[in-house]
Order: sequence, then C-alpha cells, then structure tokens
Amino acid sequence: MEHLQWKPEYSVGVPVLDRQHRGLIRIINKLTDETESDGMIDWVFDQLEAYTREHFATEERLLEQYDYPDLAAHRKQHRNFEQWLKAVRMTWRSGAPRDQIAATVSAFLRDWLIRHILSSDMAYKGVVGTNGGTEGQMEA
Ligand SMILES: [Fe+2]
Repeated sequence: MEHLQWKPEYSVGVPVLDRQHRGLIRIINKLTDETESDGMIDWVFDQLEAYTREHFATEERLLEQYDYPDLAAHRKQHRNFEQWLKAVRMTWRSGAPRDQIAATVSAFLRDWLIRHILSSDMAYKGVVGTNGGTEGQMEA
C-alpha cells in the first residue's frame, strides 16, 4: 500500500497540531511498511495509544482555551477513536491473524485520520490561534 503523504491542505493552521498530525501519519506509514512481526503490531498499538492520548489532550485543551462551540462533539469523536483502539487491540490479543489486524487497522486509520483532519479538525481552523500550543510540544 502507498504511504500517506502530508499535504498542505491538511494544515489546521496551528503548528503544534500539524506536527502531531504528521506524527500520526508516520505511525500509520510504519504499519504499511512492516507488518512481518507481532512486535510491530504491538509497537503500533503502543505508539497510537501514547500519541493519540497526547495529541487529543493538546487539541482539546486548545479548543477549550478558545471556547470552541463544537468541543463536546469533537471530544466524542476522540473518545470513539479510543474505544475503537481498545477493541481492536483486544481482538489482536485474542489471537486474530497479524495480516488481518494490520489490514484492518491500516485501512481504518487512513480513513479516520484524513476524514477527521479534513472535516472535524478543519472546522476549528481560524478559531484556534496560530500561536496556540506553545506548551505541550511533541516532536514527531
Ligand atoms: Fe481532533
């Protein structure tokens, strides 16, 4: 499968959030490259858990700071993602085949992330200041 490429139209206008989104794309691409070992799948799950925890927290903190009106609905999307991640990880632990897990996770992540960035995240573009997120830097 081809790598996901960052595109300028993915920019939400907030440097820290763009950087985090790029980091998520890198994790997804890693999954596309290497699914030969069980360890890779576990690594991807670990990374996704840690990375999305920090990213969602940063984003929600900024939206709160800027009194974003759709914050509740946006939070809900993040929580749904976390539930999905938990569920798919349990499926993996219960012995699902590696190839199947990799394909499911990869397809879901590509679709979810790009759709989430292009619709839900884009909706706060211009609301959250471009100087937002000077704390909580997460280099990807
Ligand atoms: Fe978001």
